[in-house]
Amino acid sequence: MSTIAAELTPEYRFAPAPKFPRYCTSLVNRACDLFWEARLGIHTTGGVFVQHHDARDYGCLAYDTYFKIFDRLELKLDDVVVDIGCGKGRVVCVAAKYLVKEVIGVDIDAYLVTLGKANGKRMRGRQAPVRFACQSAADFDFDPVTIVVLISPFGEETMEKMLARIEQSLEARPRSLRIAYGNPVLSPMLAAKRWLKLYECWRPGRWSRVKFPVHFYRSACVVIVTALQKLNERLELAAETISHCPV
Ligand SMILES: C[S@@+](CC[C@H](N)C(=O)[O-])C[C@H]1O[C@@H](n2cnc3c(N)ncnc32)[C@H](O)[C@@H]1O
Repeated sequence: MSTIAAELTPEYRFAPAPKFPRYCTSLVNRACDLFWEARLGIHTTGGVFVQHHDARDYGCLAYDTYFKIFDRLELKLDDVVVDIGCGKGRVVCVAAKYLVKEVIGVDIDAYLVTLGKANGKRMRGRQAPVRFACQSAADFDFDPVTIVVLISPFGEETMEKMLARIEQSLEARPRSLRIAYGNPVLSPMLAAKRWLKLYECWRPGRWSRVKFPVHFYRSACVVIVTALQKLNERLELAAETISHCPV
């Protein structure tokens, strides 16, 4: 089995690094997080309970993880990045340090969106326009988007609806779209979509400052996948008809 496929088997369990390396790397992350909060002039720390039946509470990963994700994505000038479940806007502010067309933060929680907007406004060194939307990912219009960031924002119900919206958007406006999924607990749901391809998996090592797995997906052309699916169905039907024909 390839390493990528192995990431999605039911036996796969993410085991955090042993204590000593974990403490050391967490300490470095904490120090760097303080540095970045001060440098950007924003406040994104501290967990927040989110009152929605399918939502995960607010919490974020280290700045270092987000910079590594965006470096890996090799963002381009015409990219539009959306952080689904943006919370206080840490991902949005990191993405806005890169030269991209636009960065959007989407969150279902009005209080978090207010904090996100304030952070987006006051951040120092912004290179791209930012905007925030208070709505569910299940209703968001993905048409302008080329990069989706997911940091374990919700459960299966919303994930299914959001993926359906992305698929519709790709059908209507075929383009290349990539998804970076941190702490990817629902990754098998994405991998099950024919129009998405898992192309890279990060699995944290003992001394890694990236503390959770990150999975990267890219869209296959939905129009071609749908056409091939239809062709396949027709061929199966034709084969069945022929097999029932008296010779
Ligand atoms: C784990 S936090 C992610 C925080 C942020 N992405 C970051 O890394 O800084 C999950 C966020 O998803 C949001 N969320 C949950 N359900 C949502 C939904 N249906 N649509 C949009 N956001 C949602 C929560 O309000 C919460 O802020």
